[in-house]
Amino acid sequence: MKASPTRKTLKKVDLNQRENRFHQKGTIIWLTGLSGAGKTTVSIALENALFEQNALVTLLDGDVVRTGLNSDLGFSAEDRKENIRRIGEVARLLAQQAFVVIVAFISPFRDDRDWVRNSMDNGRFIEVFVDCPLAVCESRDTKGLYKKARKGEIQDFTGISSPYEPPLSPEIHLNTAEDTVEECIEQIIRHLTKTDVFKKI
Ligand code: ADX
Repeated sequence: MKASPTRKTLKKVDLNQRENRFHQKGTIIWLTGLSGAGKTTVSIALENALFEQNALVTLLDGDVVRTGLNSDLGFSAEDRKENIRRIGEVARLLAQQAFVVIVAFISPFRDDRDWVRNSMDNGRFIEVFVDCPLAVCESRDTKGLYKKARKGEIQDFTGISSPYEPPLSPEIHLNTAEDTVEECIEQIIRHLTKTDVFKKI
C-alpha cells in the first residue's frame, strides 16, 4: 500500500516549477512618475497587452491600493515610505509565485524604490520612468489636484510642495508627452523580450 504523504515528505510548489509551468520569470515592472504622467494609462495598456499574450500578469495601482490596503496612510515622507514598503512586499510575494507584477505608484523617493529593487534578484526588478514635464502634467490636471495644490488646499503635493526624485538609471525611460501609449508599450515589451522575461510568448 502506498504511504500517505506526511509533512516531511510533502514539498511546497517552488518558483522554478511555477516558472516552467507558466513560461515566464516572476518579475516586478515598477512604474514611477509624477501624478498625471500617465502611469495608470500605460500600466493598464501593458497589462492588457501581456494578458492577450497569455501572460500571468497583475497590476497594483496607487489610486486603488490607497483606498484599501493602505487607506491608513497619507502623503508625508514617512507614510509614502510605508506605502512603498507594503506594496513592495506584496509585489515581491506575487513575483515569487511567478507573476509579472506591474506596479504604478508615484514612488517619489529613490531610496524607497531602491529598497524594493534590492529585495529582488538581478533582472527581476524593472524600473520604468514615466517621464513627463511637470508643466504638461499640470496642464492635463485630470483629477484637478494640481489646481488645489497650487491654491494650498492640498499639502505635500508631489512636484509642487513635495519633491520627486527621478530615477538615475532606470531600465526603461518613457516620454509620455511625446510618445503614444502604443509606442510606450512597445518600448517596454522590447525590453521584456530582450531580457527573457517570457520564455515562450
Ligand atoms: S506615493 O507618493 O505614495 O507613491 P501614490 O502613487 O500612492 O503616491 O498615490 C498618488 C495619488 O494620490 C495621486 O495620483 C493623487 O491622485 C493622489 N494624491 C492625493 N494627495 C496627494 C499628494 N499630496 N501628493 C501626491 N498625490 C496625491
